[in-house]
Amino acid sequence: MKAIILAGGSGTRLYPITTVLNKHFLPIYNKPMIYYSLSVVMLTGIREVIFVVNPQDLKVYRRLFGDGSQLGMDIRYAVQDKPKGLAHGLLVAEEFAEGNNVCLALGDNIFFGHGLPEILKEARKDVETNGGACVFGYYVHDPERYGIVEFDEEGRVLSLEEKPKKPKSNYAVVGLYFYDSTVFEKARKIKPSDRGELEITSVNEEYLKEGNLRVKLLGRGFAWFDAGTHDSFLEAGEFVATIEKKTGLMIGCIEEIAYRNGWIDREQLRKLAEPLAKTDYGRYLLKLADGK
Ligand code: TTP
Repeated sequence: MKAIILAGGSGTRLYPITTVLNKHFLPIYNKPMIYYSLSVVMLTGIREVIFVVNPQDLKVYRRLFGDGSQLGMDIRYAVQDKPKGLAHGLLVAEEFAEGNNVCLALGDNIFFGHGLPEILKEARKDVETNGGACVFGYYVHDPERYGIVEFDEEGRVLSLEEKPKKPKSNYAVVGLYFYDSTVFEKARKIKPSDRGELEITSVNEEYLKEGNLRVKLLGRGFAWFDAGTHDSFLEAGEFVATIEKKTGLMIGCIEEIAYRNGWIDREQLRKLAEPLAKTDYGRYLLKLADGK
């Protein structure tokens, strides 16, 4: 399985911060926002990743992640000329996917919870074994803001709605989707929505029509943030700071995950840590490299 991370968009809900800056470089406490979605993909065990980015940000992304070899990964980039929707972003990465199953992650989503790596790997295996699509539902108090999923006791999806005025459930579909390789032909079939975007909900509806869409719930022990508004951005940063200070462990630390996955060795980790040695982040990595 390969991963596609959507890291373009216009970020209008974060204006004026994002009038000239791409939101994915903004800090969620001590690291750029984009580290969190990359870390989720890495926790799924996926090494081949493509970032879909805006033309003006390509250089900065390359400076940040290069070709991924420093993390033992293969990282590439595809340019989306304009933010024409999540499903459009997916299509931009079609060539990279080359008939593989894919994990699609939104660059502004942040996840935390016990057992997350197991849940991710299970969803991956589900799609690799059974085909179709697997998405996650998360209980929210303000369902009007999200894509909403209604499902039965077996986790079979009954309906999907994008930002409904009268939601049929309180379960939002979070920004992490596992798809079989038919996702691209489905994305090519859909029409733009009223707001002129190719919606990912329309792609999920195609799977639903086939009876091939499964939803797994992230329970109340999980935290999920879409850091795309001023408040959620701040909340996500405060959440990460609180957990990291309490536990002494980091959330979304890509170098640590690469090391624990066995994709880089101790010496490679030390090399990544040394330029950051003046920071808590660098000291954390050095301690890890020292086996402490
Ligand atoms: P959104 O938050 O839905 O859109 P946005 O980032 O443009 O922000 P706003 O609604 O405030 O204008 O996008 C979800 C994620 O997907 C986000 O990480 C940006 C990314 N994205 C793309 O890469 N391409 C796109 O065409 C769109 C719409 C979003």
